Amino acid sequence: MTRAISLHHVSKAYGRAPRAVDRFSLSIEPGEFVVLLGPSGCGKSTVLRMIAGLEEITEGELLLDGEPANHMTPRERGMAMVFQNFALYPSMTNRANIGFPLRLENPRQDHSERIESTARMLGIDSVLDRYPAQLSGGERQRVAMGRAISRRPSAFLMDEPLSNLDAKLRNHLRAEIAQLTEELGVTTVYVTHDQAEAMSLGDRVAVMRGGVLQQVSSPREVYALPENVFVAAFIGTPRINLLQAVVHAPLEGRMSIDLGRQRLALPEPLSTDHQLLRIQQGRDIIVGLRSEAVRIAPPSQARPGEVALSGIVEHVEFQGHEALVHLNTGSQPAVVPDLESARPRPGVRRRRSGGGAGAGVLERLRERATGQVSGPVIDLEEPGPGQRGPRSPDRPPLTAGDLVVRTGPDMRLRRGGQVPLLVDLAHLYVFDHHGRRICPLPRDVPGLDV
Ligand SMILES: Nc1ncnc2c1ncn2[C@@H]1O[C@H](COP(=O)(O)OP(=O)(O)O)[C@@H](O)[C@H]1O
Ligand SMILES: [Mg+2]
Repeated sequence: MTRAISLHHVSKAYGRAPRAVDRFSLSIEPGEFVVLLGPSGCGKSTVLRMIAGLEEITEGELLLDGEPANHMTPRERGMAMVFQNFALYPSMTNRANIGFPLRLENPRQDHSERIESTARMLGIDSVLDRYPAQLSGGERQRVAMGRAISRRPSAFLMDEPLSNLDAKLRNHLRAEIAQLTEELGVTTVYVTHDQAEAMSLGDRVAVMRGGVLQQVSSPREVYALPENVFVAAFIGTPRINLLQAVVHAPLEGRMSIDLGRQRLALPEPLSTDHQLLRIQQGRDIIVGLRSEAVRIAPPSQARPGEVALSGIVEHVEFQGHEALVHLNTGSQPAVVPDLESARPRPGVRRRRSGGGAGAGVLERLRERATGQVSGPVIDLEEPGPGQRGPRSPDRPPLTAGDLVVRTGPDMRLRRGGQVPLLVDLAHLYVFDHHGRRICPLPRDVPGLDV
């Protein structure tokens, strides 16, 4: 019953617009729960609709259980879809709504047993004889799920099914969906723009950006080993700190990472990871530090693998069980466009090409010289790739903190006060100027078997 779903270089073009989905490849095992995650407009629904047969595939191939399926009708595919707007028939009872697909398939048979067992599974057996309008949002979404599962589909395709519900209910139903799909063992493809939802539900999470698949891995791995700066920034709250930096690798003496006003000195002997940074000498890189990778403590308390920085307290966000401290360390945050919307902000593009007539050419030459593929994952706002040296004097003064750090809730911190910081180098991410991860290497992430 449950199906293997395989997409090979699948693309979708709507007219002349840029491809909504571009060479998307993903193989989903029978019974697996895969989440498509990405900002609004990145092509998630389009992928789902191509799997369902609701949207024609422009290029590439879809296989269901190994059989070519591009031209199968939605009915032949036997999948069930659940949408954000759970379109129930208002004039039918919930019982009739759940039984609707069964009646369509087999009008003469009595389906009450199947309807009732489905309703029991979803905890809505007591409201079967009411109408959708008499239910709460959560109950209505359960009826919609009931309608989707009553037919025992070969796969579930869910498109932001919880987006219209309030936060509490969403968390509750999230747990129910996880349990239900596991019990039924049906292959599930679930679309969401909510990273927390994706991380809590998926066996694997497929992160998309601008129609292109960025990474597909277990939730643990997309968090610990993001392939690029976009994935790093999209996953995790608070958002990973991303700082513009330059590698300083003198022929003699210690290698360090220049963060603007401060330097992170790398301990000798260099780890295998940090040896990789040597060839980045003088280049713009992006340093990623999750809020748990930095703690407020004096250098005297440094453990092996921790190095010192300092920061000025800008703002403390009290969270109850912890506090998030916004600090200014004198570095420049790296800007990752596309995090919230589909296409890069026009302003960023303009600024890049406006950085002098030769900037684009320089960049291309540099890419060719270093053998890097064009098509940057990240647009560094300033300094543009190719520019370096002293920071431009007309840079706006720093107003907000550039580093967010977690602390216990009881730490007394004064706004404007300077605090010592310790950075755990085992949790230091470095991305090249295209946004691709240089380190850590996979095997160096503690607690992750890859
Ligand atoms: N029927 C359509 N006609 C034209 N463009 C579309 C259509 N459906 C989606 N698009 C475009 O394709 C892109 C991806 O859309 P979609 O798959 O709905 O994104 P998501 O579900 O990730 O928010 C968007 O730029 C959107 O405007
Ligand atoms: Mg969508």
